[in-house]
Amino acid sequence: MNILSSFKPVSAKLIVIFCLLFSFFPYSSSSQEHLPFNQSEEYHLMMGERLYHGLISTGGDNPSCISCHAKFTDDKINWNPSAMEIVMAADTLSAEQFKSAVNSPADGFIAKVHKGYQLNDEQLSQIRLYLKSLGTEGVGEKPKSYPQLLLFLLVGSLMALAIVDLLFTKKIRYRAIHILVILAGITVHLKMAYSEASELGRSQGYMPDQPIKFSHQVHAGDNKIDCMYCHYNAENGKSAGIPGPGLCMNCHVIVREGSRSGKSEIAKLVKHFEEGSDIEWVRVHNLPDHVFFSHAQHVNAGKLDCTACHGAVDEMHILKQENDLSMGWCLDCHRRTNVQFANDYYSIYDKYHNELSEGVRDSIKLLILVPMIV
Ligand code: HEC
Ligand code: HEC
Ligand code: HEC
Ligand code: HEC
Ligand code: HEC
Repeated sequence: MNILSSFKPVSAKLIVIFCLLFSFFPYSSSSQEHLPFNQSEEYHLMMGERLYHGLISTGGDNPSCISCHAKFTDDKINWNPSAMEIVMAADTLSAEQFKSAVNSPADGFIAKVHKGYQLNDEQLSQIRLYLKSLGTEGVGEKPKSYPQLLLFLLVGSLMALAIVDLLFTKKIRYRAIHILVILAGITVHLKMAYSEASELGRSQGYMPDQPIKFSHQVHAGDNKIDCMYCHYNAENGKSAGIPGPGLCMNCHVIVREGSRSGKSEIAKLVKHFEEGSDIEWVRVHNLPDHVFFSHAQHVNAGKLDCTACHGAVDEMHILKQENDLSMGWCLDCHRRTNVQFANDYYSIYDKYHNELSEGVRDSIKLLILVPMIV
């Protein structure tokens, strides 16, 4: 049927009235609407986003801003300031300062990473516009990885097809095939659901982002600073303790630029020191309140190395919980480890010590968390 023939005169009249109404509508009050699209704010915002994401070349073969100033974090350390940090920096910098930070930073580390950028004023203001919108709208939610989502949907549709064929279309003769597809599908879905769910309450492998990118690999590894220099409480106290900014400043009065992060991270530390405020480190290890655990007992009396419980901390840029800290984990080591009486920490156990020397006993183990002699 012809479309025009279905057009009733009434609706045609309505359209004419609408057109007339809108031609009188005072949309000229905002000057923006008069501008062609390629001069509107919307357009500049879009260009800013594309430049930032490298969808439009910034000239030369420089990497895109987002490849360093990322919106989302993952398990690997990213030494560069995040997108949000650039949003904040841009907020405090004048257009001129922003330009020289990107195009011609004076010297030091930033001159190396921004080398080669020659953005023009329009491009720079477009990027600033985009950064401003990130500042008000935030970076949004981290997108789910496509392969996972695709697999989920693919398996789902296969299962649906199998069910439909089994009940209605009956194209495939052998029922075993339907059953197999459905069972395999359920297994894949359950596995995916399980790995999502176990991430919720998981603490083994926990490696939160910290307010300052402090790296144990850089300090305890590369620069061979002793654990005790910072965690001096571990020898004699219940907790090992986290050093305050004052201790960091022993070195960082001088070291103001790192070879991975430039000035930005150490500048945060210096700011805390000057303001006299604490750095709010996110706690990684957390035993339930009812468990009594003391570092002194293990480090001083037990002569255990930190690595026995915390793993190779000196190879971690982001500190990670190595063990699950379950009761089973505590007991497992206590079962394996003989109490060492060679130190005076255990003077209360003199009786057993004597029995040991007399050969009445050959060893003593701690079997529950309140020590029980066996
Ligand atoms: C190769 C990685 C890399 C790329 C690509 C990169 N940056 Fe940076 N940028 C850095 C690092 C690292 C710093 C921090 C340097 C420091 O603090 O010493 C930084 C700092 C900045 C700062 C802050 C300067 C200040 O004074 O606080 C701005 C603004 C900035 N970048 C904007 C951009 C823009 C815009 C782009 C894209 C056109 C971009 N960057 C691309 C690594 C990069
Ligand atoms: C220069 C100071 C410094 C040195 C040296 C150092 N640490 Fe740390 N450590 C810190 C700071 C700051 C934190 C808090 C930030 C973090 O978790 O990364 C921390 C956190 C930790 C944590 C996690 C605490 C929590 O929240 O549960 C462990 C475990 C740890 N350090 C072990 C070690 C071990 C083992 C060594 C030696 C190989 C060591 N540290 C050397 C400063 C230091
Ligand atoms: C026997 C295992 C064990 C050993 C050995 C050990 N730790 Fe721990 N550490 C733990 C546990 C368990 C926690 C969590 C304590 C809590 O939540 O109360 C912890 C927590 C920490 C923390 C967080 C702050 C605190 O004290 O609660 C730091 C820092 C730390 N350990 C550093 C060290 C350092 C440095 C050494 C070596 C000198 C060391 N640990 C040796 C088991 C151990
Ligand atoms: C005993 C000296 C010393 C102490 C104490 C110390 N640092 Fe450092 N730190 C260094 C040195 C040296 C570097 C430079 C490493 C490099 O560039 O390779 C550095 C680098 C850094 C960096 C930049 C890493 C990079 O490569 O970009 C940060 C961030 C940092 N330290 C934070 C801290 C914090 C926070 C503390 C206190 C908990 C602290 N430091 C305590 C010596 C120290
Ligand atoms: C890697 C081995 C290891 C792990 C893991 C471990 N311990 Fe121990 N624990 C020891 C050793 C060794 C001693 C000290 C025995 C000695 O003095 O020779 C000890 C001593 C103790 C004592 C002191 C007993 C006393 O009479 O003073 C308590 C309490 C204790 N552990 C609790 C825990 C708890 C709670 C956990 C788990 C969060 C844990 N331990 C994990 C090895 C371990």
